Order: sequence, then C-alpha cells, then structure tokens
Amino acid sequence: SAVPELAVIGGDGIGPEVTREALKVLAATIGNAFTTRNYQLGAEHWKATGEVLSDDTLAEISTADAIVLGAVGAAPGSAEVPSGLLERGLLLKLRFALDQGVNLRPSTWYPGTPTPLSEEVTGAGPIDFLVCREGTEGLYCGNGGVVRTGTPQEIATEVSINTAFGVERVVRDAFTRAAARRKHLTLVHKHNVLVNAGSLWRRVVDEVAADFPDVEHDYLHVDAVTIAMVREPQRFDVTVTDNLFGDIITDLAGAVTGGIGLAPSANINTSGEFPSMFEPVHGSAPDIAGTGKADPTAAISSMALLLDHLGRPADAERIRAAVSADIASRLGAPARTTGEIGDAIAALV
Ligand code: NAD
Ligand code: IPM
Ligand code: MN
Repeated sequence: SAVPELAVIGGDGIGPEVTREALKVLAATIGNAFTTRNYQLGAEHWKATGEVLSDDTLAEISTADAIVLGAVGAAPGSAEVPSGLLERGLLLKLRFALDQGVNLRPSTWYPGTPTPLSEEVTGAGPIDFLVCREGTEGLYCGNGGVVRTGTPQEIATEVSINTAFGVERVVRDAFTRAAARRKHLTLVHKHNVLVNAGSLWRRVVDEVAADFPDVEHDYLHVDAVTIAMVREPQRFDVTVTDNLFGDIITDLAGAVTGGIGLAPSANINTSGEFPSMFEPVHGSAPDIAGTGKADPTAAISSMALLLDHLGRPADAERIRAAVSADIASRLGAPARTTGEIGDAIAALV
C-alpha cells in the first residue's frame, strides 16, 4: 500500500507524552499520508498481564512499515519492576528481532542553544556529527552468566559479541553516510585493552575504507572521545562504534549539544526485511513524568529521521527547519509545556 503504517509504542513515563507530540508534528507535515496502530506496552502492561512483549505482538509489529517508540523502563531502583526487564524484553528484543544493526544518532548544536560547552568551543564553528552505533551485538547480547551467586566467590561475566558481518554492516553504512557528508569517519573503540574485538573493528574499517577513497578516517579511544566531544566537537563528522560505547557517547553528545531532550535516533534495518524504529535517545524520565516538563523535541526530530527513511527528505528537512526555528525562539523565553512545544513546532513545519 502507498500509505505507510506505523506501529506506535509510547511506553513508560514521558514516552507517551513525547510520542503524542511527535505524531502531531508528523501529521502537520504530511497530513494523513500515514496510519498508526497503537500498542500499549511497558510497565503497566507487564503488571496487568505478566507479559512484556509476546511473540504474537512482536509478529504483528514486524509487519508495520516503521515503528515509533517513546521510551521504556521504570525508575532506576524501582522495587516493583526488575531492572532490565522492560529494557531487555521490549526495547532490545525489538532491536534484535528486527535486526536493526545500525543505530543512527545525529547531534546538531543550534547557535543560541544553552550548552555546557565554553564560548571558545562553540565559537569554533557549527557542531554537526553523526554517531553510527552498532545495534544488535556487543555487550548487549546477554552472553554471560553468574556462578556462586550471593557468595563471596561470586563471578559475573558479560561477554561482548562482535561478528565480521555485524561490524562490516555498520562500518559500511557509516562510510556511505560520511561520503555524503564531510567525508570524515572516526572509529571509536578501546583496542589498547579490548584487543580481540578491537583488531576486528580496525581491520574492517581499513578494508571498507578502500572502497571509499575520498573519505578520510581516523581513530580515537573511547575515553579520549569524551574529552574531544567537550573540547573540539567540530572534529567529528561520522563516528562508528560498538553498541555500549555508542550508548555512552551519545548521552554525552546530547548533553553537550543542548540537552538529552533534543537528541533523536533511528534504529535501521538495513536489509529492508523488517521495520526500522524511530525513538528519542533519552529514557522514560520518571523524575518528570506527568509534569508537562518533558521536552518533545528529540521525539519530534526522530520523525525527521523517519521521513528520511521513508524517502521524503524534503519533508524531513521541514521538520528540522521547524525544530531549529523553535529552538532559536527559546532563548530568554518562559518555559513551555510538552504540548506547547509540540504545538509550536507543528505550526512551523
Ligand atoms: P533518562 O534519559 O530517562 O533521564 C535522564 C535525565 O534526563 C533525567 O533527569 C530526565 O528527567 C532527563 N530527561 C530525559 N528526557 C528528557 C526530556 N525529553 N526532556 C527533559 N528532560 C529529560 O535516563 P534514566 O533516568 O537513566 O532512565 C530512566 C528509565 O528509562 C530507566 O528505566 C532506563 O532503563 C530507561 N531508558 C530507556 C531508554 C529507551 O527507552 N530508549 C533510554 C534510556 C533509558
Ligand atoms: C538507549 C537506552 C537503551 C540502550 C537501554 C534502555 C536498553 O539507554 O536507547 O540509549 O542502552 O540502548
Ligand atoms: Mn542510552
């Protein structure tokens, strides 16, 4: 059918609040050129049914053209919901089952946006980089275990899986994106310690680089990346990295470019066999859920990534321009609610 069908999972905490605004802006941009199916999944669904994501529901979601997700997870330390139950059983299950091997996380700093970066750093020019995070492997596979639980001899292991297939898939995607941007790629790893996985990632980057002679590439250890993102973020164009390093550096990237409330993401199924999923980088923010303080901008900007994916780059650009104009209007203005920000951006697209 010509009209894409979106599976919508608002999830927990501020997830449904920001998702509502994202769909509002999507409708303002492309009218009724999409349909939605809603899935009530998350903590409440689990408490009511004992299920996180059933195989039937997963099978149904996997027939959608794309997925729009808010956030899942209870407050860290919740007595009711075991840590990781929803994250692993819902979010990661979707990323893995739908083979979303490339997790795109763009960061843009819009002039005037409050940032913890110094004026000397922001004065050095625009900040605009893209992290290509591997999405289906690494330490997220749940490979490991515990023996002698609860004893002084307890041993807990988490084993990182890195396959030549998965690494090449994300590296090739990252080079392709770099070739269409400023032609620079940085591999982020920690091969001075993680020598097994590190040598695979380096070799794959060197091999794929041969197919992209006009893309320059370099390397930074992940600890050094946290310095560079704060002191010289302009040095980054595209970075490629594994699942956990990508998780950590994209929270930092969000914080330095104006806050986690602005950071969008896309989990891409590169083969097209399964739907891709669009979600903010942030979580369910239980500390502000229900207060109207959640910034829906990250969820809204994720709709631009959705439109890129659906082959509507001009419409994606309308959302990016509206977001940028709205952010520019924030300086010195009173704080707005989640719904007010969504209305304002919807009026600008
Ligand atoms: P979080 O991203 O939910 O919150 C971190 C901080 O950022 C909090 O102070 C929060 O108030 C603030 N924040 C987040 N989004 C915001 C927004 N849109 N506007 C304004 N402020 C915002 O991370 P956390 O507190 O570590 O995790 C809370 C829960 O979310 C946990 O259960 C965690 O597992 C889960 N989580 C889910 C996802 C996801 O669904 N993709 C991502 C991260 C964390
Ligand atoms: C994110 C989140 C998830 C991740 C968690 C909730 C599983 O932090 O999307 O960044 O680590 O990928
Ligand atoms: Mn994260």
